[in-house]
Amino acid sequence: MQRVAVIGAGQMGTGIAQTVAQHGMQVLLADVDQARAEAGKAAIDKALGRLVGRGKMEIAEAEALLGRITPVGDYAPMVDAELIIEAATEREEIKKSIFEAAGKVLGADAVMASNTSSIPITRMANYSPDAARFIGLHFFNPVPVMGLIEVIPGLATAKATTDRITAFAEGLGKQVVLSQDEPGFVVNRILLPMINEAIFVLGQSTASIQDIDKGCRLGLNHPMGPLELADFVGLDTCFEIIKVLYATTGDSKYRPAPLLVKYVEAGWLGRKTGRGFYDYSGEVPVPTR
Ligand code: 3HC
Repeated sequence: MQRVAVIGAGQMGTGIAQTVAQHGMQVLLADVDQARAEAGKAAIDKALGRLVGRGKMEIAEAEALLGRITPVGDYAPMVDAELIIEAATEREEIKKSIFEAAGKVLGADAVMASNTSSIPITRMANYSPDAARFIGLHFFNPVPVMGLIEVIPGLATAKATTDRITAFAEGLGKQVVLSQDEPGFVVNRILLPMINEAIFVLGQSTASIQDIDKGCRLGLNHPMGPLELADFVGLDTCFEIIKVLYATTGDSKYRPAPLLVKYVEAGWLGRKTGRGFYDYSGEVPVPTR
């Protein structure tokens, strides 16, 4: 693959763009407008600057990588892309309008993929021009660092599409887990109930934020505790995923923890808003309860 487009220049989209460009491909990076796409490229520039500063990347490599990323204000230039990856906000109506608009420029042989965390691929394939060339391609945050990509064919996805996208994912130096199109796929189906349960534990005052996280870091050897991780993923994203699990299965074990709902309603969405279960305004994150 030579040319890839990424729609959504937030945390995931920029991570995907950086990783794809690092592997020598040209990347078109889009968001709602040119300014947001430019801001996404600036965030990648900053991340690369940190790597260069720590001696993890040569400056020439960082410059070449950045030179392969072109921010765009609309989808027209994607007509030549062999793959369009949607990595927008985890809301179906937003993704639907992206697939419909980008579908108008999708090349005859190109594939459209969604980085959705939990929305059914089979259903979203209907919003694209060709369900046989539509697939789930689920990255993990931070994308340049995490070693896994889930590949999720929908009911109508052609085997040739799955094979092509699996090869693309492996070409990024990642390992692939193939999942059926079931709610939450594999990893989020397991992760989100854990995060949600940690929020129930906090809501019932069983332990402090710090101790819940410490318990999982030291007792399970997880790099981050579940509340830190929720802040890292974004509490709005966690809420959207657990709601999809609840709605699609009807199983009460996936009901969102009331405290999660409250934090989202307060706009305390984690690192991206500077406050979630921790306050990120100082040098070191401070628990908020
Ligand atoms: N590009 C390239 N490399 C990067 C990078 C970037 N943007 N950001 C960080 N790195 C590298 C660093 O250079 C460092 O490399 P080194 O090990 O060779 O020195 C390494 O990544 C670790 O970075 P840091 O030293 O800054 O930070 P930590 O050691 O504290 O690790 C962490 C940070 C990797 C985020 C670790 O805490 C972790 O693994 N946390 C769990 C993350 C996780 O579970 N993610 C999945 C979330 S679920 C998801 O994404 C699915 C979605 O659908 C919800």
